[in-house]
Amino acid sequence: MSERIDLAALPHDFLWGTATSAYQIEGAVTEDGRSPSIWDTFSHTPGKTAGGEHGDVACDHYHRWREDIGLMQRLGTDGYRLSIAWPRVVPGGEGEVNPKGLAFYDRLIDALLEAGITPSVTLYHWDLPQVLQDRGGWPERATAEHFAAYAAVVAERLGDRVAHWATLNEPLCSAWIGHLEGTMAPGLTDLTAAVRASYHLLLGHGLAAQAVRAAAPAAEIGIVNNLSTVHAATDRPEDAAAARRMDGHVNRWWLDPVHGRGFPADMREVYGVELPERPGDAETIAAPLDWLGLNYYFPAAVTDDPAGPAPRVRSVRRPGVPRTGMDWEIDAGGITTLLLRLTHEYGARKLYVTENGSAFPDAVRADGTVDDPERREYLERHLAACAAAARQGAPLAGYFAWSLLDNFEWAYGYDKRFGLVHVDFRTQRRTVKGSGHRYADIVRAHRGRARNAA
Ligand code: FCB
Repeated sequence: MSERIDLAALPHDFLWGTATSAYQIEGAVTEDGRSPSIWDTFSHTPGKTAGGEHGDVACDHYHRWREDIGLMQRLGTDGYRLSIAWPRVVPGGEGEVNPKGLAFYDRLIDALLEAGITPSVTLYHWDLPQVLQDRGGWPERATAEHFAAYAAVVAERLGDRVAHWATLNEPLCSAWIGHLEGTMAPGLTDLTAAVRASYHLLLGHGLAAQAVRAAAPAAEIGIVNNLSTVHAATDRPEDAAAARRMDGHVNRWWLDPVHGRGFPADMREVYGVELPERPGDAETIAAPLDWLGLNYYFPAAVTDDPAGPAPRVRSVRRPGVPRTGMDWEIDAGGITTLLLRLTHEYGARKLYVTENGSAFPDAVRADGTVDDPERREYLERHLAACAAAARQGAPLAGYFAWSLLDNFEWAYGYDKRFGLVHVDFRTQRRTVKGSGHRYADIVRAHRGRARNAA
């Protein structure tokens, strides 16, 4: 069944895009002076990723970027969210700039603009130079300072052509999954390190926002968070309190400081870790922003877990709720709720859905086509939910489908396919999936409307 999408609720200049990140698609990990990142190290450590898979080749985008821009054109999209690999641009983590690394992005940006596609650049999508990890990584303040210096280098070079900038992608994952749960790079399970990392990530965000602003005064700067609606497993007061802690852990800890409200007091208590605060940091972290990015995949349902590690909650499976191939609950309404929360509770003036999408096992048919009805339905339902938020007043300016291509899905390897375009990783052959064709139809329909209204 095709979901009705209230296209009239979306602004005429709505940006229709796709998203990727450097380590997940580029490959070419030793080319042109790139140094290893924490994800090279992590994925090459036995037992850390499914099947020991890694991003050495990935989608070979470093060599096939022209073809990939062609795919964006076939989808009719006019936005593309990419990330810059810090270890390509400043292989030492700090100091010397690698001209070849910058030149790659320079060419890519020019070609995107020539193709009529607006680039949205994310400065950090989890690929910290390993040399900085060796000196302590995000739990150390110096990493935030080096990040800002690298951001300045990139903005000075690309700021004349790139208008949309994001500092961090999903700092929650870097801090909580990378340093507390340990299933992402750098693979630590240390609450103190995790809390310190969270602090320095947000400090790095603020410093980088200032650096980009100074280098490119016309830049529109934002941050990309993955947020979840949170549900208590039962109506027991203990579970209500657990849901509140989970909301603090995944939502408020990341939103409040950036909005000048400081780190939530209840969560400081839950973690019990002293923050490495210095005078002036709170103001830096709350540097003014032009937009907020929402990555939305799934809601959280939790129960109290008094003996568990901070934040003492356990996720529960809600029976009867449909799930994707990642085993993530499907709940399109969550995206409406979160967009409205960012609007009303945090006063967002401009919002982008910077990622949203689903993995399902795709079958390539004998005729070479890929039909993926479940992904198509996920897309339609979530776009309908985005339009519903816009109808209710959320200042939604664009949507970036995750992802343009099937790619290296971190610890899950290549098995989890999120692309609107199928990639055969043996041959690097790209095939637009049914969901990709559907996306192109929706984009065309919205454009047609906008033109008629003009
Ligand atoms: C997000 C990440 C992105 C991708 C999707 C599925 O958390 O930002 O790189 O892996 O999930």
